[in-house]
Amino acid sequence: GAALATASLLAAGALVAPSPAGAAPGNPGAPRFAPGAPSIGDPYFPDQGNGGYDVQHYDLDFSYDPATRFMDATATITARATQDLDRFNLDFRGPAVSSVTVNGKKNGFTRDGQELVITPRPKPKTGQTFTVVVKYAGVPGPVTDPDGSIEGWIPTDDGVFVVGEPQGTPAWLPSNDTPTDKATFRFTARVPEGLTAVGNGQLLSQRTRNGWTTYVWDNTEPMATYLATITIGRFQVTESVTPSGVPSYVAIDPRLVAGSTNAVSQIPKMMEFFTEKFGPYPFASTGAIVDYAPQVGYALETQTKPIFSNTASVGTMAHEIAHQWYGNSVSPERWKDIWLNEGFATYGQWMYTEHNGGATVEQTFNSSSNYGRAASSSFWQILLADPGVVDMFSSAPYNRGAMTLHALRGKVGDDAFFRILRQWAEIHRHSHAATADFIALAERESGRDLTAFFDVWLFQKGKPTSW
Ligand code: ARG
Ligand code: ZN
Repeated sequence: GAALATASLLAAGALVAPSPAGAAPGNPGAPRFAPGAPSIGDPYFPDQGNGGYDVQHYDLDFSYDPATRFMDATATITARATQDLDRFNLDFRGPAVSSVTVNGKKNGFTRDGQELVITPRPKPKTGQTFTVVVKYAGVPGPVTDPDGSIEGWIPTDDGVFVVGEPQGTPAWLPSNDTPTDKATFRFTARVPEGLTAVGNGQLLSQRTRNGWTTYVWDNTEPMATYLATITIGRFQVTESVTPSGVPSYVAIDPRLVAGSTNAVSQIPKMMEFFTEKFGPYPFASTGAIVDYAPQVGYALETQTKPIFSNTASVGTMAHEIAHQWYGNSVSPERWKDIWLNEGFATYGQWMYTEHNGGATVEQTFNSSSNYGRAASSSFWQILLADPGVVDMFSSAPYNRGAMTLHALRGKVGDDAFFRILRQWAEIHRHSHAATADFIALAERESGRDLTAFFDVWLFQKGKPTSW
């Protein structure tokens, strides 16, 4: 795809000076058709996201056979043009595309790296809604990240483990892969009888015919593409309802049931605790997916159903449930803001540990993995406000991020601090926000100038000694 400089130039050009081609002289109201930007301009992942449109809904209808790893898919994307469009891109690294239609008309397309380039005819005008149907088939696979971890479409011994943070979803879904373009999703997945396909949101139907079972999952609140999953395997499924009435769907690999029971049985208690501290739960359902994918080595807060690649622990479960508020409902505007996800979820984990009778938040803050780390540790050399793409999931965004919140709590007091946390979830619900927005909110709710405080914790390297 596009190199960073090119992408930024095009992005700026598309916003500032749309091509005059097609505009009638002396008629400023006439359409000014121009290509949508091929990138959203995030320097960590310069190919990610696209401009010129806003996706409303993704519908993916597919079959998948783990024995052959073959996928046969139809993706229907409903989007609204945010400019007069003569061309736009989707992010897609998946198998061969056999056809693309726009508003039902067969459409030309090309592929270049992860860019699927579409030239719709007739051209959508600003504000118009249009429908893109992409048909593709073949064998999808994983994506390797700058830090060496894998994501995307990861085959397991009994199905596939599907995760997409920060750039894995285009491995299997043509999409506008940026947290700043959320949409609703529906997955219709056909898998061999005996396997379960587990997606985000609520199970609408499940039907078996001729040896294949079709699962329909409906994710009814806006979701960032990186939080999508439709994981397939052998699962033991438990459906229940939390004390507050939120439906829960938990799918566990039979091999991991014994080791994960303690963590999954505490989901209702976590939901109640975080709702009390953070405000209303932002989604229509909850649950978890515990699947055996040892090559993955991390868990992910996939929306409504966090996913674990091995036995789920109580601490990690609390972290991933806390992410539903911070990360999933309030998403980072740019990946350099990742501490807003990981620091908040880690702080939620610390709070739950205390609530559950373990170490207090204060003790965890002072422990040897946190403030107790030696000042000489390389841990302190990562800039929290911009950790870099290789260190975005290193311990700094998690632990220094949570320490920053605890230090802020000490600075502004419990009342202002919990007001800030709840306001953050409420103001940016189902949307995205940046570090500057958080600083502004903290200053407003506390009535204090926190420039020096945030400078030490977020914008300077080194171990903070006074704040
Ligand atoms: N957000 C996940 C968590 O902390 C971690 C994702 C790591 N992703 C990766 N590609 N390394 O819960
Ligand atoms: Zn996390």
